[in-house]
Amino acid sequence: ESGHSIARPAACGGRVPPQRTVLGETSAVPMHREGAIMKKKILVVGGGGREHAIIKALKKSPDCGEIWCAPGNGGISYDAKCKNIKSTDVDTMVGFAVEEKFDYVVVAQDDPLALGMVDALAKAGIPAFGPDKAAARIEASKVFSKDLMKKYGIPTAKYETFDDPAKVMEYIKAEGKYPVVIKADGLALGKGVLIAETREDAVAAVESIMLDRAFGDSGNQVVIEEFLTGPEVSVLAFTDGKTVRPMATSQDHKRALEGDKGPNTGGMGVYSPVPIVTDEEHATMVAVMEQTVAELAAEGIDYRGCLYGGFMLTPAGPRVLEFNARFGDPETQVVLPRLKNDLVEVMLACANCELDQIELDWRDEWAVAVVLTSAGYPGSYEKGKVITGIEDAEAMENVTVYHAGTAVVDGQLVTNGGRVLAVTALGDTFENARNLAYEACEKIDFEGKTLRHDIGLRALRGRDAWDA
Ligand code: AMP
Ligand code: GLY
Repeated sequence: ESGHSIARPAACGGRVPPQRTVLGETSAVPMHREGAIMKKKILVVGGGGREHAIIKALKKSPDCGEIWCAPGNGGISYDAKCKNIKSTDVDTMVGFAVEEKFDYVVVAQDDPLALGMVDALAKAGIPAFGPDKAAARIEASKVFSKDLMKKYGIPTAKYETFDDPAKVMEYIKAEGKYPVVIKADGLALGKGVLIAETREDAVAAVESIMLDRAFGDSGNQVVIEEFLTGPEVSVLAFTDGKTVRPMATSQDHKRALEGDKGPNTGGMGVYSPVPIVTDEEHATMVAVMEQTVAELAAEGIDYRGCLYGGFMLTPAGPRVLEFNARFGDPETQVVLPRLKNDLVEVMLACANCELDQIELDWRDEWAVAVVLTSAGYPGSYEKGKVITGIEDAEAMENVTVYHAGTAVVDGQLVTNGGRVLAVTALGDTFENARNLAYEACEKIDFEGKTLRHDIGLRALRGRDAWDA
């Protein structure tokens, strides 16, 4: 079919001439048909709490028609049709999207982005939310993203990169200042960052990444960087490659145990906004996000979708710890409930280079999410435990339960992962939101239910709580 392959207009810099799509409309993603709103049939790729939050937000839009999720999960199946396709199976996913004639696909997970799912969808004529393969490298290769930051003077930890295990061992032997941070170059399910307190730790970390190949090819190169201190803040931003619209700040709690102890996890709780950020720090972080998109464009990389800046507020100012090419999990579960805009409209504007037409608008309420996990997580844990009480929690005003590791088996909702649920509450004060989230968590039960009781506590105590 002629005109079938133009799902992605040229870079915004050269402003896009109207283009015809297979649907015969005059923009990349048709917005309206004969004056009437044309509801979009949307597919969300992924199956965690983040995807559940994206789906619930999309469904509030009058432009949202049929909504699907692949692979989805038990709880998502109450809100969207689910199709069991692995999110890394690009060919099958794109084939499914073509067959079902989706108007728009939201690629929410890192792996399919790194594999080029957005490129493959564009080739098949389907517009998508998310960066293409070249742009997704900002997350998929830490060497690429650190080198980009260095080249353009974006504030980040000092670092060296290595592809030769012998060279890195030499470097470690000469390094006198510990701790140091050792990162596998590629994607590693959030586990590829090791903090070495001593030279022995550093040697062990490099052995595990480069010699034992704990993260496979992701460990072909390593980054060794300076250890920074301070509170962490996530700044997610929508971008169409030219305009950058930062979302409200949020703060994840990555460690498994209270007091920020224990191993790193996918995230045990989160809140938004972050009250301890100064106006000056906020302005710096926003400027960094804008600069990064502009420098990517200068490199010929047209970044569209959500860019996630992971910052540390060091005594010398905010420093980028990492960029992610997608929404954060669990950050999304507190940021999107506070977004007043129509998410379908915002996402289409990112793909269509029309983000300059949109200003984001935020609810004044605070949002706090507490993650309920299976006992043992992030180590091994049991699955298949019956979950009760979600209806009671959701019957509470201003409470939403987002599903991560859940499944429906014989009509019953059971646990099916390490992070099971994220319980989000909105409140007129931080404290009220926090108390409500914990009250809601008490209504929910399953064997092995585990949670941190100190989500947001440090922020409530103020900035000094990070100096202790
Ligand atoms: P990343 O995936 O690069 O964000 O790293 C995961 C976590 O490791 C971060 O959220 C920080 O808690 C920690 N981390 C990463 N880089 C550094 C650094 N340079 N100094 C101190 N902690 C770090
Ligand atoms: N919350 C951390 C991440 O999404 O990478």
